[in-house]
Order: sequence, then structure tokens, then C-alpha cells
Amino acid sequence: MALPEGFIDELIQKTDIADLVSDYVQLKQKGGASYWGLCPFHSEKTPSFHVETDRQIYHCFGCGKGGGAINFVMDIENLSFIDAVSFLAKRAGMEMPEDGTPEETRSRRARMLELNRDAARFYYSELTGPRGKAALDYVKKRGISPAMVKKFGLGAAPDEWTALTEEMKKKGYSEFQLVDAGLAKRGKSGGVYDTFRNRLMFPVIDVRGSVLGFSGRILDDGEPKYLNSPDTAVFSKSRNLFALNLAKKSKMGMLILAEGNIDVVSLHQAGFDCAVASLGTSLTEEQARLMSRYTEKVVIAYDNDGAGRKASERAIGIFEHTGISCRVLRMDGAKDPDEFIKAKGAEAFSVLLERSENHVEYRLLAAKSKYDLDSPDGKMGYLREATAILSSLTNEMERDVYTAKVASETGARPDSIRSEIKKLIGVRKAAMSKKESRAAMRVEINAQPKAKELKYDNPVSASGEEGVVRILMKDPALSNRITLKEEEFTSPFLRKVFALIMERVRNGEGITEAAILPFLSTDEASHLGKILEKPETAAQSEKALQDYINKIRSAKKTALTDDDALIKFSEKQKKTKGYGG
Ligand code: CTP
Ligand code: MN
Repeated sequence: MALPEGFIDELIQKTDIADLVSDYVQLKQKGGASYWGLCPFHSEKTPSFHVETDRQIYHCFGCGKGGGAINFVMDIENLSFIDAVSFLAKRAGMEMPEDGTPEETRSRRARMLELNRDAARFYYSELTGPRGKAALDYVKKRGISPAMVKKFGLGAAPDEWTALTEEMKKKGYSEFQLVDAGLAKRGKSGGVYDTFRNRLMFPVIDVRGSVLGFSGRILDDGEPKYLNSPDTAVFSKSRNLFALNLAKKSKMGMLILAEGNIDVVSLHQAGFDCAVASLGTSLTEEQARLMSRYTEKVVIAYDNDGAGRKASERAIGIFEHTGISCRVLRMDGAKDPDEFIKAKGAEAFSVLLERSENHVEYRLLAAKSKYDLDSPDGKMGYLREATAILSSLTNEMERDVYTAKVASETGARPDSIRSEIKKLIGVRKAAMSKKESRAAMRVEINAQPKAKELKYDNPVSASGEEGVVRILMKDPALSNRITLKEEEFTSPFLRKVFALIMERVRNGEGITEAAILPFLSTDEASHLGKILEKPETAAQSEKALQDYINKIRSAKKTALTDDDALIKFSEKQKKTKGYGG
């Protein structure tokens, strides 16, 4: 779809990148136009994600992602360029231009979200209709209040083969769309039938209120207990959480992670409105990062059984990566939060929350339960695991306290435990610094872009081309000094950027990074960010520009005449510092 001239420029102008990023990341301002936070694209404990409002760009020094507002939305929402533009337009209160394309080709995602919303409405209304009696009975039996039914938009999938399919077809959706959205399946005979039948329906709604998919709970003891939408163009089980749309508004200052949807509803009903659940997979890094956008504190309230304990241990490890401090709830005498609250009340659960165990203690306890401490072998096994846990603690005081505890549990001398811990820390550090120095070396050798598609065929020429682009972006007035032609660029990516710049110059438009970024893929945008960040060594831009042009031209000559010479030349270039490459 072609957007009218100036639309993107206006959009960028109306979007403040710090404000946009803040929807996803907790940013801290460090000096006027500079903001820092934890990168939403990789897991980290110390912020290396940088937003600069002067240039209206973001950049992560850890994983290298970067770009402008549109690239950010493409990456974080997993949207195409045009969908990201329309996402931002909506946010900025701008009307998307009419696109005139036929219904069939309208964005698959947008149509799927509409379908999901209509399906949610259908299930919701069925719950109070004749076909929803069994589901409604189940809701009552579990003690779920009408207020919660409404808040969560609970529904009923009728015990029929094509109830939803028929209703949605009447609304103009095709069988293809229903199957595409995971709401229907295609049978052997070619017809389609409803995916969810005779189940209590929980819509999965994201933080902006879009219905992404569904979980359907069985109404008796059958299997599987939960049926979830398959992953689709809008839904990913590993990247979303049930009820985060509600929990993100909580004032409790934490998130409670439960296992089942019923537990979540029950927790909300008892006033713990910060409860969420994952969607039938064990906790993923993406989900932990998603949670870290809203809180630094998580309480794990998984089921009180072997599987739940194992899952808790895994989750603790994942949260540690994400910089979230987490605690594990121990519900003695009840199998899950729902049962606990029903048996002992919300007040008792509150006390539990306050007392929720520190994760170190929990991990030690979990390790201890695996061994028989009365036998020498068991003792050794526990000590081995315990020292590994203790060596992962960064707080020295904490380490001392728990070292003493383990010592008294096992009868080992605190000093010998401490020296074991020291050894382990040493090993870990050595592995770390090896990794770091290797990474640093890679940066040295490799001035190549991260993304394979952007790889330079002629790195020497490309470093000159990068220089030309960088200088033009910083000082557009110099464009009248340009004797270079597009064809002289060896990197298609840099050629494209150069062409974009020159076109804007010809049209008398300003050259800002924000104006160029929308025309680039996210990989390209992030590489351009890196190019622009490299310092310019020559004081005189005009002289430097000429140097870069010369470099491009001589690199080409060398390339044409002698491959060996090129290699030598490029090695020499690497040794002479000064060029941006
Ligand atoms: N689960 C799932 N899909 C979901 C939610 C949960 O497959 N959308 C899985 C979880 O991984 C877990 C189980 O189903 O293994 C949910 O556990 P449980 O707490 O027993 O569910 P509840 O609805 O709370 O059921 P109950 O009333 O029996 O506690
Ligand atoms: Mn449960």
C-alpha cells in the first residue's frame, strides 16, 4: 500500500520514542535526551538499552538491536512495516489513509484479531444461553462470581461440532480464516469443525486489549485439562501470559505467577489482582521479560506437587536472568492457590505472600529433599549442590548466612564450604572472561554487519561508503560536494541509504535518521544506527568526505586488478586506525 507523501514524516514527528518505548520498558532518564533501561530483546541484568530523544532512536549495546520508532514496533510487536505504521498511527491519533485494496488482502493479522474478538463475544453470550448450561454450572461449582465472568470475559463453547464456525460464517468470515486463527479444524472430508467444544472458554488478551487466542478448560476430569489455541499469526503461547492485561493495572507492586487459569481467576476474585499464568508451557524467557516490563517482583504460586516444584525451580533460574527477584509460595495443606483460598481465606493467603520464601532458601530446600543426609553419600551430594547454589549468589552477606546454614545442616566446616565456593566462582569467572575476550576479538576482526544479508563483499570500499553516509547524515549541506554515483557503492544496503539521502536532498527535504529509518528493515536500521554512532576522526568533514570517496575508488581499482593486493590492502587498512571501520 502506498502511503501519501509526508505521512511517515508526520507520524514520526507525532511519536515520541521515549514515550513509546516506555510502554514496554522501564526507562530511567540519565541526562537531558538520554534514557536507559533493560533491553526488551535480550535478557540482561544491567541496562544496556539506550533511547536518545534527540535523534529519536534506540540502540542496545548488548544485542545490537536499534532503529527508530517504526523499527521498534516491528520488532517488539512482531509486525510488518505497514502494520507497524498503522499501529503507531492509531497511537498518535492519525487516520490511516484508505487503502482501497480488496477485503481478501487486508492485513491477515488485523482480520484475525477481529475474528477472535467476535469469537470471544460469541462464547461470552453462549455462557448464559441454553447451550452454555454445563459451562455455567461448572463456573458456579468452582465458586466463580458473575463479576469475574465479566472481568475475564469467560465463555462457553457449546457441545456441538460447528456452533462457532456457523456463527462466524454468518458474520462473513471464511473457513480458511477460521482455520488460520486456530478456531476451527479441517476434517478428512474437507469440511471444518470447531476446535473448542464443550469447554469453559478463557480469552487470552494482550496488554493492549486484543484477543489473541483462547484457553478452553474441560468441564470434568477428562484430558487434556486445558486446550489452547495453536500458535497463529497473532498468538504465541511462549510469548504471552494469561490475564496480564488485567494484572498490569494492579497496585500490588508485584506479579503472582500461577499454573492454572482457574487459580488466576480465583486469586483475582480474592483481591489478588496481580495474578497471571503461562499458557500450558513452562515459563519462557520471553514471558519473564514481558513480566519485567511491569514489575521487579514476582511470587511463584505453582501447584504444590512434584511437577509444580520442578517448574518453580526452572522459573527461578529464568527470573534470575531477567533481573527479577522472585519468591516461591509454599502452600502447606492445599494443592494450589484456589484450594488454599477456599479453605483458609484471602487473609491467610496474604500472610503467605508476605512470608513467601526467599528463593535461596527454596533452592536449598529443594536440593536437600533429594538426598538422605544421614548417609555420607547423601551428605556429599547435597553439599555439592548447595555449594553450586551458594556460589551463584552475588551478595556476600547472603552467601555467608546460607553457608553457615548449610554447614550446620551437614556438619561440614564453614571454611571448607567457603573454599569450595571460591573455587567454583573462580571457574565461572575464567569461563566468563574467556567468552568476553573472544567476543571482543570478534568485534576487532569483524567490521561486518551482524545480519548475514547485509554482509559486505568489499569491506574496504564499504567502510568508505559507511563514512560517506555518516558524514552526509551529520552534515547534509555537504551533499553538493558529492561526485559519487550510486553505482560506485558496493554494498546494496549502503547504496540504498545513499539513494534515499540524495532523493531527499533533491526534494529539498531534511535528512534525519528518523526520516530514513522507515524505509529500512529492522536489521538494516540497527546497522545504520551503529554506523552513525562510530566517531568521525577527521575534524574537517569536507576533507574526510573526500578521503572516503577516494577510499571507495581505490578499493575498487584494487579489487579489479588483483585479489591478493586487495587482501593486503585491507589488512593495512585494518592496522591504520582512523577510518570509521
Ligand atoms: N495449562 C495449560 N494451558 C493453560 C493453562 C494451564 O495447558 N492455558 C496446564 C498447566 O501447565 C498445568 C495445568 O494445565 O499443567 C493447569 O493446572 P491446574 O492448576 O491443575 O489447573 P486448574 O484449572 O487450576 O485446575 P484445578 O481446578 O484442577 O486446580
Ligand atoms: Mn489449579
